[in-house]
Amino acid sequence: MCGIVGYIGTKKAAPILIDGLLKLEYRGYDSAGISTIENNCLSLLKDKGRVKNILNLSNFDTLSGTIGIAHTRWATHGKPSKENSHPHFDNSSTFSVVHNGIIENYNELKNFLIDNGYSFVSQTDTEVIPNLIHYYYSSTANKDFLQSVKMACSDLHGSFAIEVICKDFPDNIIVAKKDSPLVIGKGEHENYIASDIPAVLKYTKNFYFLQDNEFALLSENSITFFDNNLNEISKDIKTIDWDENSADKNGYEDYMLKEIYEQPDSIRKTINSRLLDNGTFDFTDLNISKNYLSSINKIYIVACGTAMHAGLSVKNTIEKLCKINTEVDIASEFRYRSPLIDKNTLCIFVSQSGETADTLAALKLCKEHSAKTIAITNVLGSSITREADYSILTYAGPEIAVASTKAYTAQVTLLSMLATYFADVLNRCDKDIVIDLRHDIVSLPAKLEQTLNSCNSIKDFALRVYNEHDIFFLGRGIDYSIALEGSLKLKEISYIHSDAYAAGELKHGPIALIEDNTTVITILTDSNLVKKSISNTQEVITRGAKTLIITNQSLPNYGFDTIITIPEISEYISPVLAIVPLQLLSYFISKEKGLDVDKPRNLAKSVTVE
Ligand code: G6P
Repeated sequence: MCGIVGYIGTKKAAPILIDGLLKLEYRGYDSAGISTIENNCLSLLKDKGRVKNILNLSNFDTLSGTIGIAHTRWATHGKPSKENSHPHFDNSSTFSVVHNGIIENYNELKNFLIDNGYSFVSQTDTEVIPNLIHYYYSSTANKDFLQSVKMACSDLHGSFAIEVICKDFPDNIIVAKKDSPLVIGKGEHENYIASDIPAVLKYTKNFYFLQDNEFALLSENSITFFDNNLNEISKDIKTIDWDENSADKNGYEDYMLKEIYEQPDSIRKTINSRLLDNGTFDFTDLNISKNYLSSINKIYIVACGTAMHAGLSVKNTIEKLCKINTEVDIASEFRYRSPLIDKNTLCIFVSQSGETADTLAALKLCKEHSAKTIAITNVLGSSITREADYSILTYAGPEIAVASTKAYTAQVTLLSMLATYFADVLNRCDKDIVIDLRHDIVSLPAKLEQTLNSCNSIKDFALRVYNEHDIFFLGRGIDYSIALEGSLKLKEISYIHSDAYAAGELKHGPIALIEDNTTVITILTDSNLVKKSISNTQEVITRGAKTLIITNQSLPNYGFDTIITIPEISEYISPVLAIVPLQLLSYFISKEKGLDVDKPRNLAKSVTVE
């Protein structure tokens, strides 16, 4: 949550900062601000609302400085307001700070600073940081900028990625991080800072990744890294091969629509990243031997939100193909429920961003219990990839819309590919099942194209139901996991209340909610359970429901209102296709309601606080 950007170089910083913030708005968008240095004085422009408000401020064009920091906020401490927006100054206007994260001990620090004569204008936790830096700066004889930032950071409990500028050092930005993301982009006579790569991808593809408790001192021509004791350290630079256009809308009205249509390509890239000439998938980099895999007593798949739904959709596949008990857990619950983990537990963490705080904490917990850990993320160099024993990348490219689409399908695909690899190593099931699944995985990109072309009637259905207050999703087996994800998409971007039920559970309570004209969406791709789910759908039709069916079976019409038929595919991998019409349904409903599809209220794409 919250996005930060920084620039130091030879160009005017303000437009570059705003450009970066616009790309990071998916991290938070209730207020924004920038700070630059002109003639050894700090400038500050900030306000509540979207980043574009800053551009419209009358004095924006007067910011001529070639150094600056910027922030887009997702409020935690203090409501969205101008005072609570970042950057924050210290009392003497010597330092300007932007911060992503939460300072847990800010109350103690604030009281300490108040006792030492400081005053506060905001309700944020962040405002303690510039004042604390000033406190150390003014209490040391030699006024050491870096030392003062380091001393202040040593007092902070919680998570932070910060950028600091100082009017006395107009040629430097200092950054520090702990448990919040931050990347540094290297240019020619200019350097960039951002919470996430897409913000500055247009300017550079060469990045350094700061680790927790490290510091960097940036100038126009240099970046120097320091450990927690301020010893100079060296870092490798990594080149990111994302296409800069992939972080733009590329002619689409919204990022979400563009990302839905990018799915054939992102799945193709994800498959090709591991596909061998003999048609199998190569995961030898995970160092998983038959002996090790045979000793595994349990696999945990741990994640949040959509990534957790991706895990749910492969639970049955892993259990059927590998005969290993597989549990899927919500990371925020897992970390506090004392899960049974030991060295014979394999823990897989799924995260688009690789930065989700709960997933990261769950990963650290598993490592403490000696479990082997594998991360599946979309972002090279992200915190989760650095923490896990092994990392596997999805190749979805930057996902900007808050509601996840192409990352989900890439996660399901990659997890299924991994399941076939484990199945080959273990050899515990009929080989033909694994071979067939691999064929189906490889056929996904073409079938996704077909699916996207066969969704025309979904818009008509969206126009009929966009004013509803409740929409229900039903499914059994793997279709239940699709129902959960379809329902989440709808809630996220259309604000319609929605629930997903395992269709067999309907008569144990939820059916009481069905009345004349209630909308019910049933997913029918699990061939073993289709007949059962049809019976459950009949029960709601009898009670007046209008129904949308998403299926890959050829079905007689049992009184369904609308049927969307997707290409035939094994149920193990059907979520990748079946979710597409549901993504589009949510999209069209949101558009018809005039909502901001890419930036739904109250949500942030990357949840880096607990
Ligand atoms: C947030 C996003 C969701 C996402 C979840 C997990 O809630 O809004 O779209 O599924 O975080 O994010 P991750 O980056 O770990 O996949």
